[in-house]
Amino acid sequence: MSARIITVFNQKGGCGKTMTCMQLSASLALRGFRTLLVDMDKQGTSTIWAGQGGKDRSFPAEVVSLAPLRERMLGEIEKRAENYDFIFIDCPPAIESSIPWAALNISDIALIPVIPLMDNVWASREAKELARRAKTENPDLLTYCVPSMSRRGNVFKACTEILQDDLEIPLLDTGLQQRNAYGESQMFGLSVHGVAGASAAVKEVEALADVVLKNLGFVVEKKSGRSKGAKNKEEVV
Ligand SMILES: Nc1ncnc2c1ncn2[C@@H]1O[C@H](COP(=O)(O)OP(=O)(O)O)[C@@H](O)[C@H]1O
Ligand SMILES: [Mg+2]
Repeated sequence: MSARIITVFNQKGGCGKTMTCMQLSASLALRGFRTLLVDMDKQGTSTIWAGQGGKDRSFPAEVVSLAPLRERMLGEIEKRAENYDFIFIDCPPAIESSIPWAALNISDIALIPVIPLMDNVWASREAKELARRAKTENPDLLTYCVPSMSRRGNVFKACTEILQDDLEIPLLDTGLQQRNAYGESQMFGLSVHGVAGASAAVKEVEALADVVLKNLGFVVEKKSGRSKGAKNKEEVV
């Protein structure tokens, strides 16, 4: 079985692309899926992050930088696809770069993290437009906005409502709230699963991972909080 490919993109810097990619890839790796994160940002945040862990406590998913290859990363990803269940692509903050376009063309699912603030809402329009264009080449592509770093308040509520208004590229109702645990996980080279006292963060990461799996056709078992992947409701992973 070839890997399912999940691209996290948006031209907006600092909206939580790397955070979403890192936490989700860790979640799926901890569930026993063979998971690779391809760092396509030349800043190399995810690669550096994964390199912070100690020998005894390493980052759960494999992380590799293919940023220097730019859109030629496609060939490398295709070569690796047989060896993984999931490949995440962490994109650079540039929609006009050839990287998100190339990534969207081979993806099963695309996630656009959006902080519910007006500038993020405006910027998300361009990202959505790219996803719509990519769908003409890759008709099965599923695209969702993911609320990132949300907090309570009028602005967050108003922006959430605007984002909810798009039926073609819906806003997921699960996302990562603003929490210290996320920054801590970065400091230790881990995901929130490895941070003491981070149960609220773990819960929302797991909920988001469940949503991603369900949208990819997996059956997610409710009771344990862990999912068993089952494509077409037949295979049990
Ligand atoms: N849910 C969150 N809670 C707290 N801090 C966060 C959260 N998501 C991201 N951050 C922090 O916000 C900054 C930008 O996030 P990052 O994922 O690197 O954005 P991007 O990859 O889109 O540029 C980083 O310093 C990151 O640690
Ligand atoms: Mg990033």
